[in-house]
Amino acid sequence: MAELDRFRHHAFEEVSSTNATALAAARDGEGGGLWITARRQTAGRGRRGRSWSSAEGNLYSSLMLIDPGPIALLHSLPLVAAVAAQQAVAAALPYGVEARVKWPNDILIEGRKAVGILLESEGLPDGRRAVVIGIGINVAEAPDHGLYPITSIREMGGTLSADEVFAHLFRAMAEGLALWDEGRGLAGIVAAWRQRAAGIGGRITVNLPNGSLSGVFEDIDEAGQLILRDEGGQRRLISVGDVFFG
Ligand code: BTN
Repeated sequence: MAELDRFRHHAFEEVSSTNATALAAARDGEGGGLWITARRQTAGRGRRGRSWSSAEGNLYSSLMLIDPGPIALLHSLPLVAAVAAQQAVAAALPYGVEARVKWPNDILIEGRKAVGILLESEGLPDGRRAVVIGIGINVAEAPDHGLYPITSIREMGGTLSADEVFAHLFRAMAEGLALWDEGRGLAGIVAAWRQRAAGIGGRITVNLPNGSLSGVFEDIDEAGQLILRDEGGQRRLISVGDVFFG
């Protein structure tokens, strides 16, 4: 498949963070389309300044892109990553065990978090922009991250290794990005996200950087923002937050 040729892969035993390594590669002049994976991270990064505990056995991966597309389209990149990660996890699970996307881009297996995704972006000295999509998948271990119930593919009956899960992720991301590149694939990407989403139509509370909001999770828009109908019936668009169901 032609789109697979666009990507290269550097595999490491141990790094501080695959996101940090991918950003450093961009600064060193590496071209976009580079995947970094590692068996262990010593300083894995999570969303909103949290850390990501990174024992051996799980998948730690980052895809570095250079100037991947117009700024307006960048907001939808996390949706591409979430759909691809869901596909990789679903491929590793036994029949009947469900993986769903939790806004903005966690993957839950039977309601428990098994994947975290962290996008980071940096302007390079030559004026180009590096965007790194970091994806951590709990393949064999389920380290407690404090905030949500956690599980792993292994715990839910899957038997694939981290390398095998990465092969699925690599292919799914290539397919998703090919659609995304064409721009006109955006509606399809949002539809794919929605089809895999947890909690649409249900009550949620979103912890925001300053306070929280409760209401009904109506949908997401094409920029990946969560659409919440709040207690007063007002429609709110949320771009950053942690969702709790119920
Ligand atoms: C989250 O908080 O849910 C996001 C966690 C993202 C973790 C992955 S592991 C691979 C990549 N490298 C990092 O340092 N973080 C991401």
